[in-house]
Amino acid sequence: MMKSYDNTIVVGVSQFGLDNGIILPVNIDFSSAPHLIIVAPSGSGKTYLLTFLLGQIAKKSVKLILADFKGIDFIEFDECKDYYKHSDIAKALDYVYEELQQRMAEPKKDNQPIYFCVDEWSGFLCSLTTKKEQDSFKQKMASILMLGRGVQVFVIMSLQRADANYITGRDNFGNAVGLGTLSKESIKMLFADEADLIQSKSRGKGYLRIDGKPLSEIVVPKIRDIAKTKEIIKTALLK
Ligand SMILES: Nc1ncnc2c1ncn2[C@@H]1O[C@H](COP(=O)(O)OP(=O)(O)O)[C@@H](O)[C@H]1O
Ligand SMILES: [Mg+2]
Repeated sequence: MMKSYDNTIVVGVSQFGLDNGIILPVNIDFSSAPHLIIVAPSGSGKTYLLTFLLGQIAKKSVKLILADFKGIDFIEFDECKDYYKHSDIAKALDYVYEELQQRMAEPKKDNQPIYFCVDEWSGFLCSLTTKKEQDSFKQKMASILMLGRGVQVFVIMSLQRADANYITGRDNFGNAVGLGTLSKESIKMLFADEADLIQSKSRGKGYLRIDGKPLSEIVVPKIRDIAKTKEIIKTALLK
């Protein structure tokens, strides 16, 4: 029998809901709109949102891979098999890319989802010394973004700025979140037609674009028990 996996994740609560006195969780569903790009200047809550998402993903029956360019915020995962830091992001990317190729070569209907989560993708690209190297990793990521959905390989990445130097286009991200005060270029890249609606926000607050849906304002909620959340993530990274 074909297994069906639940690829829904809560990304925040609705600002509209809060304005009207109710807490409305806002979901994204990778099965209908794959991948998520998170853009925010330093200190605006990218890693915090990622931790909130990882806590949920870790409870699913999926393979979780965490690539953390800075290697500080997730230091407690250092010994975990599926945690990669600094330049090892290259290894994580190669692994996911290989897996994608294999899945493409032998199509199956019940692939277990892979969630490839990358904190500070642009930092990683900037750390590479040659343009050739950068282009090669950008190209691999672009392939994963383009082909991943059909074989249940999903990407969540964070960057300080959305910029054509780091991604080959916003088109393959079914979901985009921008937090805090975004640059003009980031706004254009993430929200295109709706760019005029975007205002400057404080840490942990911003906008969500889901393919085919109206833009919404979201607030990233406080993580109730951060130590417990990290324990759950750690368990998933050791699997
Ligand atoms: N939604 C939020 N609620 C409460 N605290 C938050 C929230 N988002 C971020 N923070 C806090 O703000 C600081 C910066 O957030 P962080 O996620 O590290 O930013 P970034 O990764 O974008 O540089 C951290 O100390 C974090 O705990
Ligand atoms: Mg961070």
